[in-house]
Amino acid sequence: MKKFLDLISEELMNAFEKSGYNRKYGKATISNRPDLCEFQCNGAMAAAKEYKCAPIKIAGDVLELIKDNPIFSKAEAVNPGFINIDIDKEYLSRYLNGMNKDEMLGCEKQKPRTIMVDYGGPNVAKPLHVGHLRSAIIGESIKRNARYLGHTLYGDIHLGDWGLQMGLIIQELSLRKPDLPYFDESFTGDYPTDAPFTISELEEIYPTASGKSKEDEAYRNAALAATKELQAGRRGYRALWKHIINVSVSDLKKNYEKLHVSFELWNGESDVQDIIPGMIDEFKASGIAHESDGALVVDVKEDTDTKEIPPCIIQKSDGAALYATTDLATLKDRMKNYNPEKIIYVVDKRQELHFLQVFRTARKAGIVPEALELNFVGFGTMNGKDGKPFKTREGGVMRLESLLGEIEEEMFKKITSNHTVDEAEARDTARKVALSAIKYGDLSNQASKDYVFDVERFTSFEGNTGPYILYTIVRIKSILNKYCQEVGEISLSDINPASNEYEKALGLELCKFNSVIESSFEELAPHKICSYIYDLSNAFNRFYHETKIISEEDRFKQAGWIMLLTLTKKVLETCIDILGFDAPDRM
Ligand code: ARG
Repeated sequence: MKKFLDLISEELMNAFEKSGYNRKYGKATISNRPDLCEFQCNGAMAAAKEYKCAPIKIAGDVLELIKDNPIFSKAEAVNPGFINIDIDKEYLSRYLNGMNKDEMLGCEKQKPRTIMVDYGGPNVAKPLHVGHLRSAIIGESIKRNARYLGHTLYGDIHLGDWGLQMGLIIQELSLRKPDLPYFDESFTGDYPTDAPFTISELEEIYPTASGKSKEDEAYRNAALAATKELQAGRRGYRALWKHIINVSVSDLKKNYEKLHVSFELWNGESDVQDIIPGMIDEFKASGIAHESDGALVVDVKEDTDTKEIPPCIIQKSDGAALYATTDLATLKDRMKNYNPEKIIYVVDKRQELHFLQVFRTARKAGIVPEALELNFVGFGTMNGKDGKPFKTREGGVMRLESLLGEIEEEMFKKITSNHTVDEAEARDTARKVALSAIKYGDLSNQASKDYVFDVERFTSFEGNTGPYILYTIVRIKSILNKYCQEVGEISLSDINPASNEYEKALGLELCKFNSVIESSFEELAPHKICSYIYDLSNAFNRFYHETKIISEEDRFKQAGWIMLLTLTKKVLETCIDILGFDAPDRM
């Protein structure tokens, strides 16, 4: 369906044109004075400059042509040249009925493109902590938004599975369990299929090893050597490394599942190591890279840069590949295997320079075609109430699992204190509400901003929170249920023209759905969906407080409201599904 605002603009643009003015001046906007009108057009002011006459004259000319237009219930020209408009309620209800009967609620599928989202980005063997939370939450939502619009999506977790952390673990294990066959270079048999550690051991081993390496130089050198040997292909180390990945990945999967985050591709940095040597040769042969202090670098600064952009280092003087090298090789691999038209990276904004260098290098070297869109969505830090990066009460790094658990517990208490529900249902509801609190708390902020993770605020059932949105959906579900029990089955019928201002305001909010879903994807800005559903929930709750739905005796009127509720529910549920959470039946 065409966007509601565009339909209004079209009428105005036609009127501008017929009156002898450029049609571009006819664009309508949502009124910023809802007390005066629902929509407005300020084009007469701009047109006045071009046509050198008073804006009110232009507004008056246009008004002559639109004042009898049946889609407007009110149209006025107001000094100095505003055109103020209200929408006819029959027209509005026709649009709502169109939405209600459309599978995509008035949203249109776009020309399908292949899009990759690089998000999550956890590092194998290090516990998943809240720092990884934002990437997972934002990336998942962007992916779902794009998919809803009809694109083909590949979410790639891009595991950090090739770095020093691997060498550290191998080094620590070699001290703890020196008798394992992995350390015996003369061993030629099959290595055990079971890992020689559990996930909890692994999560303890890494921080211990990392701590030791900072104090003990010999230890650190041994870990570095182990990393090198692993990368060079030492058989026992490779086998051990596979165990580390397997144990870690199955734990990651469990955690991401709890977050309703899933990846199509579980590729890692290690998967592209084989193509690095060839790529480096190409860089050398084409002359795009040059030597600088023994390292191989690519100049990426451009004349229009306002700050210094250092060269991208693709090989260190000791021959080692770097973070950027791996990202370039990954791009090569993605082009070859998926040929995407757009790749979106959802990573901490502190890595912005890295991605700028990588993108420029990739284009310069022709690793990616001109037409490929490369987007970097850099997010800010999740802080605690003290304004510092979020920590546990004891000051340690908060594990994702503990965070989820704590909030679930809080929700569980809240739910069971209100009324008596059976334990299993309360647990399930607590999980859903907790997830909405965390995700909405994150997504409702512009991604690039730091934000304060305020458990108390995020879990509140009132205000701009996930639980408030769920509460609204639950309220609608309960009215619909009651209707089914007391009046009858719900069948698809028509939404009637609004009978009061609250009902109309709700209808006008609903009409924005398609434009919100498109622009949130266009701008890679899920917070736009959050603010939309907050406004929509408010509009619904105002309407609800003014309207006695179940006790209404006029069945026709009542059935129209039931349809309006059904549509509101569908819009809200679609939006939260894109954000990555869902609503319980009761709360
Ligand atoms: N593993 C990285 C980190 O923890 C994030 C990976 C982001 N994605 C990428 N293609 N570099 O910082």
